[in-house]
Amino acid sequence: MNNFIVGNWKMNKNREEAINYIEDLKLFSKDIKDTKIVLAVPFTLLESVSKSLNGSKIDVCAQNMFYEEKGAYTGEISPAMIKDFAKYVIIGHSERRKYFNETNEIINKKIRAALKHDLKIIFCIGETLDQRNNNETKSTIETQLREGLNGLNHENIKNVIIAYEPVWAIGTGNTATSKQAQEVHEFIRQLINDLYNAEIASNLIIIYGGSVNPNNANEILSMKDINGCLPGGASLDPSSFIKIIKC
Ligand code: 13P
Repeated sequence: MNNFIVGNWKMNKNREEAINYIEDLKLFSKDIKDTKIVLAVPFTLLESVSKSLNGSKIDVCAQNMFYEEKGAYTGEISPAMIKDFAKYVIIGHSERRKYFNETNEIINKKIRAALKHDLKIIFCIGETLDQRNNNETKSTIETQLREGLNGLNHENIKNVIIAYEPVWAIGTGNTATSKQAQEVHEFIRQLINDLYNAEIASNLIIIYGGSVNPNNANEILSMKDINGCLPGGASLDPSSFIKIIKC
């Protein structure tokens, strides 16, 4: 499978911009088959985007959530609140790790909480440039995976999609080469094989994110262990997002 495409809008778009985008996307994506399209939108847009995507095959995704069910956590959003509008949630994005100090332990709590509410999880992992230069890519990925997935059983893991997003490739225009990405994806699949089993590993969806655009998507998506991609900047414009989907 190499057709799982998630657009991550990050902190962009107000309601009007979002609705116009969705109208264009629905029009462009009419003849797209056999591709799962998911849009990760800000919390403020979950309701309006899910309404305007109603009846389409495009799914909505939240970009984060808190792990508690409810209570005195000013400014936070619970899994049950997300579940009202979205099927998916991104957990562990490097921007959350960097700006909001999310650790593997916090990310693991979030993943477990999302599973309790039957959300599908897009679990992001990836090394920084220093870690890559110090030959720590695989050990970083392994720690993020083991700690992030701690306590998940064979059924749980089927609701997890892994997104490999090298931090140095995000928003920089420096995409990983298809060979670099494939090498890490293969390593991730092998780890899942070791932690779970061969069937789970071969069915696992592993997508790549980090400066994906219409010009490099084809090459990245042609790799054996890359099952889709997660564009950020290039998903903000419906025509470039559609070009990526068509790859
Ligand atoms: P860019 O495509 O803008 O590099 O962002 C990737 C990303 O972080 C998606 O989650």
